[in-house]
Amino acid sequence: MPRVAYHLHSQQLLEEAMVVYIYLYGPSTGSKAMDNIKGKVCVTGASGFLASWLVKRLLLAGYHVTGTVRDPGDDKKLAHLWKLEGAKERLQLVRANLMEEGSFDEAIKGCQGVFHTASPVIKPSSDPKAEILEPAVKGTLNVLHSCKKSRTLRRVVLTSSSSTVRARDDFDPTVPLDESSWSSVDLCEKLQIWYALSKTLAEKAAWEFCDENGIDLVTILPSFIVGPSLPPELCSTASDVLGLLKGEKEKFQWHGRMGYVHIDDVALCHILIYEHKDCHGRYICSSTVMDNDELVSLLSSHYPLLPLPQRFERLNRPYYKFNTSKLTSLGFKFKSVQEMFYDCIASLLSRAIYLQSSNDKSKTNHTQTIDSTVDNYMRPA
Ligand SMILES: NC(=O)c1ccc[n+]([C@@H]2O[C@H](COP(=O)([O-])OP(=O)(O)OC[C@H]3O[C@@H](n4cnc5c(N)ncnc54)[C@H](OP(=O)(O)O)[C@@H]3O)[C@@H](O)[C@H]2O)c1
Repeated sequence: MPRVAYHLHSQQLLEEAMVVYIYLYGPSTGSKAMDNIKGKVCVTGASGFLASWLVKRLLLAGYHVTGTVRDPGDDKKLAHLWKLEGAKERLQLVRANLMEEGSFDEAIKGCQGVFHTASPVIKPSSDPKAEILEPAVKGTLNVLHSCKKSRTLRRVVLTSSSSTVRARDDFDPTVPLDESSWSSVDLCEKLQIWYALSKTLAEKAAWEFCDENGIDLVTILPSFIVGPSLPPELCSTASDVLGLLKGEKEKFQWHGRMGYVHIDDVALCHILIYEHKDCHGRYICSSTVMDNDELVSLLSSHYPLLPLPQRFERLNRPYYKFNTSKLTSLGFKFKSVQEMFYDCIASLLSRAIYLQSSNDKSKTNHTQTIDSTVDNYMRPA
């Protein structure tokens, strides 16, 4: 066998042996967390809003990360990932598409963990089945088929959504919803809530497949994610937040009541649940549930200069809260709504000023401009 091939082969064997050892005997420290073992993990849809932040956190934690993207040649879309600390040494980006069978085999091979975040977060324009349901459900099964083939895999963390819990009309509003609650497929179909339907069907399919095939699956159910965006284009939910801050009502009007969570908390929660040996099942990841009016009143009091909408129509939707004790009992603490919007607004302002200043031929001190504008808007009330 040529020397290089022999070296690669023996390295892979060593990695596999380490995973088997840890799986059988637990970490050498004797603690419950699988600490010190920062092996190789795969993040699907790595260029997305949440996934980019997760990749950043995984790299900072010392992991080797293989991210899947649809087009690894798209330098503009991926530049933010290559700028992350540790990326040059420990990040690899490979091509994979949810709609192609076997597409994730190479990316997942040799990984101990898979974070499956890729899923369409869009409002379908004409064909919900093709645009959102199939990529979510078939895509998840495709990823899991690749996981099944892997000899090194320890755990799969699936990014589901709190919309898999709350889209139902048959619960007691005085009892906070917990992980035992599932959205009603019939209701989602009747009301054409395609995103919630896609996430509910995908998570159910994942549980069924993993139960049948002995794959260790945990799922994270974030509510609406707010925070700084790393990718160059804002994803659909980050654009909705920008719209609200500019005074647009429509998207949030439809939300009515919503849970909110900081993007950093969602990423940290993924890593915690991956590393903690005893974690199992579903985890709701949400800081606070609020009505639109409560949210804009809070934001207006902190940011009086922003042209936020004043009043929302009351919708005939059930009142709900989330019980997040399964996660908080592990010691997890959520950042507040104030903190997530502060970080989000600061990042949007920096981005706006950066874009404006990069078009500006006369070179000013941009860092100073960003700082002073952010300070102006961020005047605490
Ligand atoms: N944002 C929220 O408030 C929120 C809340 C709860 C749960 N989640 C979940 O978090 C995950 C990430 O969402 P996000 O908010 O970060 O949205 P996002 O930025 O739009 O990310 C979605 C990712 O999925 C990828 N994707 C979509 N279709 C694909 C396909 N056919 N093949 C391969 N990749 C595909 C996208 O790739 P491209 O970049 O190539 O399009 C993108 O990387 C999703 O599972 C979403 O359901 C989000």
